[in-house]
Amino acid sequence: MSWSCSNYLCLSSSSSSSSSLISSHELTRVNSCNLSCEYKEQRRKDPINIVAYNGLKPPSYKLDKPQKRKNHALKKPNNISAYYSLKPPSYKFDALEPYMSKRTLEVHWGEHHRAYVDTLNKYLSKNDVLYGYTMDELLKVTYNNGNPLPEFNVAAQVWNHDFFWESMQPGGGNLPILGLMEQIEKDFGSFANFRQDFIESAMSLFGSGWVWLVLKRNEKRLAIATTTNAVTPLVWDDIPLLSLDMWEHAYYRDYKNDRVKYANVFMDHLVSWNAVLGRMARAQAFVNLGEPKIPVA
Ligand SMILES: [Fe+2]
Repeated sequence: MSWSCSNYLCLSSSSSSSSSLISSHELTRVNSCNLSCEYKEQRRKDPINIVAYNGLKPPSYKLDKPQKRKNHALKKPNNISAYYSLKPPSYKFDALEPYMSKRTLEVHWGEHHRAYVDTLNKYLSKNDVLYGYTMDELLKVTYNNGNPLPEFNVAAQVWNHDFFWESMQPGGGNLPILGLMEQIEKDFGSFANFRQDFIESAMSLFGSGWVWLVLKRNEKRLAIATTTNAVTPLVWDDIPLLSLDMWEHAYYRDYKNDRVKYANVFMDHLVSWNAVLGRMARAQAFVNLGEPKIPVA
């Protein structure tokens, strides 16, 4: 006879008179099973929170027995490969709403940007020659003086997107601050001129591409540049300060085909002038713009 709970219930419900025939030993087992069933029923109604912690695992030898140290220095290390990672934005995905939706960030960063990183790492795993470069170096090497290697597009898109996420901030927009405004007014005549040029440049792009505010290393002035597909101004040695992604995946969910609205909202509510100011301060280590305009702490 099986003494599972279901068997017990079946026995007692089918023949109550037969229960008198159960021996005292069996009755103990019946009672035990009954208690078990009640416990299970209680657990079902009121589940207990079960928390498992990491235990302190003892060594596999006695504590008083000294172990011989292995000479790890003589061991040949395994092949160690470090590739590029998918860097998340510094703000929450819903932090740019209502100007850039959480869903846009989820797809743009979580699918498009992730795909660029994954593809780049697949390329690099098959090409030892390109291993070990910084991202900036990798872009210049794979651009190959205007004859891009297959790795260039995905590497540039990884760099461009990292730069784009940092070009925005929650509560962005407004006006440039400190010496950045002064430099913009010097090189564009006024902030209004700069803003208009930036948006018109965005609208002039045919197909997918990027709009940039750059510091031109040789001319020592700010300028607006556009690039198609994945190309970045780094490859011709300008120093990027700000970028706007004009690929359809950047704006379509929130603005459909209204690229003018997207570019205006970017300028009014998303652009991080703090980030641009910091980039310009670093760029001045390479480009002398005359009298220092940005106080250095
Ligand atoms: Fe993009």
